[in-house]
Amino acid sequence: MEEKTYPIPKELLVGRGTELFDHVSESLKDFLHEKNISLDKKHPLAFTFSFACEQSSLDQGSLLGWSKNYRARGLQGKDVVQALRDAIDRTGGMDIEVLAMVNDTVATMMTCGFDDNYCEVGLIIGTGTNACYMEELRHVDLVEGDEGRMCVNTEWGAFGDDGALDDYLTEFDRDVDAASNNQGKQIFEKMVSGMYLGELVRLVVLKMAKLGLLFDGHVSDALRTKGKITTANVAAMEEYKNGLKNTRDILTGLSLTPSQDDCIAVQHVSTIVSFRSSNLVAAGLAAILTRIKQNRNLRALRITVGVDGAVYKTHPQYPKRLHKVVRRLLPECHVRFVLSDSGSSKGAALVTAVAQRLASQKRKVDETLSPFRLSHEQLQLVKARMRAGLEAGLKRKGSTAIKMLPSFVYRTPDGTEHGKYLALDLGGTNFRALLVNFKKGLQQNTRLHHKIYTIPLEIMQGTGEELFDHIAECISDFLDYMGLKNARLPAGFTFSFPCEQTALDTGTLVSWTKGFKATDCEGHDVVSMLREAIKRRNVTVKKNVSAVVNDTVGTMMSCAYEDPQCEVGLIAGTGTNVCYMEELKNIEKTEQSTGQKMCINTEWGGLGDDGSLDDIITPYDVEVDQTSINPGKQRFEKLTSGMYLGEVVRQVLLDLTRGGLLFRGHVTEALKTAGIFQTKYLSQIESDRLALLQVRSILQGLGLDSTCNDSIIVKQVCGTVSRRAAQLCGAGMAAVVDKIRENRGLDHLNVTVGVDGALYKLHPHFSGVLQETARVLAPQCNVTFLPSEEGSGKGAALITAVARQRGEM
Ligand code: BG6
Ligand code: GLC
Ligand code: GLC
Repeated sequence: MEEKTYPIPKELLVGRGTELFDHVSESLKDFLHEKNISLDKKHPLAFTFSFACEQSSLDQGSLLGWSKNYRARGLQGKDVVQALRDAIDRTGGMDIEVLAMVNDTVATMMTCGFDDNYCEVGLIIGTGTNACYMEELRHVDLVEGDEGRMCVNTEWGAFGDDGALDDYLTEFDRDVDAASNNQGKQIFEKMVSGMYLGELVRLVVLKMAKLGLLFDGHVSDALRTKGKITTANVAAMEEYKNGLKNTRDILTGLSLTPSQDDCIAVQHVSTIVSFRSSNLVAAGLAAILTRIKQNRNLRALRITVGVDGAVYKTHPQYPKRLHKVVRRLLPECHVRFVLSDSGSSKGAALVTAVAQRLASQKRKVDETLSPFRLSHEQLQLVKARMRAGLEAGLKRKGSTAIKMLPSFVYRTPDGTEHGKYLALDLGGTNFRALLVNFKKGLQQNTRLHHKIYTIPLEIMQGTGEELFDHIAECISDFLDYMGLKNARLPAGFTFSFPCEQTALDTGTLVSWTKGFKATDCEGHDVVSMLREAIKRRNVTVKKNVSAVVNDTVGTMMSCAYEDPQCEVGLIAGTGTNVCYMEELKNIEKTEQSTGQKMCINTEWGGLGDDGSLDDIITPYDVEVDQTSINPGKQRFEKLTSGMYLGEVVRQVLLDLTRGGLLFRGHVTEALKTAGIFQTKYLSQIESDRLALLQVRSILQGLGLDSTCNDSIIVKQVCGTVSRRAAQLCGAGMAAVVDKIRENRGLDHLNVTVGVDGALYKLHPHFSGVLQETARVLAPQCNVTFLPSEEGSGKGAALITAVARQRGEM
């Protein structure tokens, strides 16, 4: 360690703050120069700043208030790290990165902690007094996280500012306070620290002299003058052997002529004042140590206190007295005191070394995540591309990225629908069978029963026949369960995959999406496949399947039943998709002419399948796409929906881990497991109310052993990936609603979007970001999002009811 001391001219203590900091940075430059430290290299810098600061990070701290003899103007409430950076810039010629600011207590604790692991308290008894200690993070409300500990700078010098020490204050303490430049502040400090001890002794001696108890009642001008007895004088007066002689010399120096008795008395005053100081510090320390002991549920405590400060270092009796009283107050604790050998700078440098590692880690994580952060311009582009994709799909038959499939649903419900319907809902997180009973004009009296069935992976990815047999079996079970074996019921089928329809009750599966890939289904009519399976299984459904409906369409219908302005359906779940009411005249690929509008299932998840999103797709997305069962397909869906977000997150985590930034660089089996991050875990991890410890336990449940820092990074990755997803959906939605608005030649459109899906409903931020993005990108539309309550099966039943009323079946 090399060092140099730079005195601070007195006028700077009370001058302009910028001048004080200019002095600091000029001294720094001089130091670099003198020690031949290269000016071309960037240097990390630690800053010990021994005043009360409110910090929100290691490299930020706003000054709460000056203490001791400082009162520089214009800094209170300001970030002192920034003030230092600014000063360094003004001085120029140095490349300095200020990485950490620490209080002297904290730096002292760190200095001593370098050699002694038990050092968890830092104590200063110098010009001022203060202590810091390691508190349990769960008790620090101002800081997120509850695992581990954090050093808290107590600023105990302010103890008593609320009157708590009033019983202990003497008239001399009150005088000291009254004459200070921070009246009413730092009461404890004024009873204890070096800046005030000499003054307290002077005031007592002065009063005794005035009362005729000393110097035959003689009082000198020097004795009347503030600051004429210093803490160094107090130390000298109490020196072993020479103390009495020193006292005489000091008093003589104040133009007094002390007798031997006067000297003994003054020495006694000094002892009482300094003893009171060490006793008060001992009491404060005992309070801190007791708290630490209780925090940790220990009966005995072994701990080291790192100490610094002129009083402790130069007063001959002070340390001994302090140690003795602390040990008397806490007989069950083993307390070691260590004098900081190299001041606080070593500790500050240590903190900075850690900060530097964290900062470089944070930079690398940020770099990794930056391609996920989309600018406003990029989102505008996505909106424009979505719009172009919608138009292209409406015009062309055959394969376009966005398929724009006619649904043969011509209007939303009007409340006159009635009767009992069976519905099936296949393709989301759950497969459901439902029975719905509509009452004419009584929307709120709709009765709905349902049962959830699972579809095992081997069936999702087995043969088509097995899949539809399984569905037929579930229907049979449901009818049994409802006691409806022989009832005649029309049935609607929500089938959440792209289907080419030529009528309401036929739909040819274009291609599987999401996790499905049962064989011999693509290119076939799903209604026929279901009918055949029903026949094969001998299920007695008297009335036939009369409508096949996409989940977006089902959701729109279900919400439109409550809100007539609902003309858009959105799914943000396992997959993502939108449908909306389009003008028939715009749908060039069908010759339909009944009515004015038709609901179009956009299948917007296919945006980008023609390469139009390549500029925003990251290498992680490419990996997810390549390892999926439909590479090259549903590129937009793979950026935005529940089935893939977890996988994108996992790819990023894998990369960060390989780069040594996470999980100590260990790529575990769990991390290599596809699908571990389901939407529900992402939602939990991102919940604002969740403490880091809980994030950690979720990760542990997934087989990922994480530290507190790992948990922070994982949460950040999840947040970035899901935010992008919500923004992209918002941009897509902006394109859809603007199209509807333009279709109708309106300046302004009010429209409701019926929404469903686990991502929308469970994720803490997805819906908010989606809505905000849509609002910003489609300022001429007022879009209300209405979450669907009973899923899209109810919508499928409604479509069946609407069609029946129109005599279409
Ligand atoms: C359900 C609808 O509530 O949401 C389904 O009833 C739809 O039809 C599903 O497929 C979509 O969300 P998720 O999260 O289950 O894919
Ligand atoms: C004052 C400061 C505090 C510092 C102490 C010792 O009390 O407010 O931050 O630790 O002096 O220097
Ligand atoms: C997939 C399907 C689509 C469905 C969406 C939401 O994108 O292709 O039909 O609407 O998932 O479930």
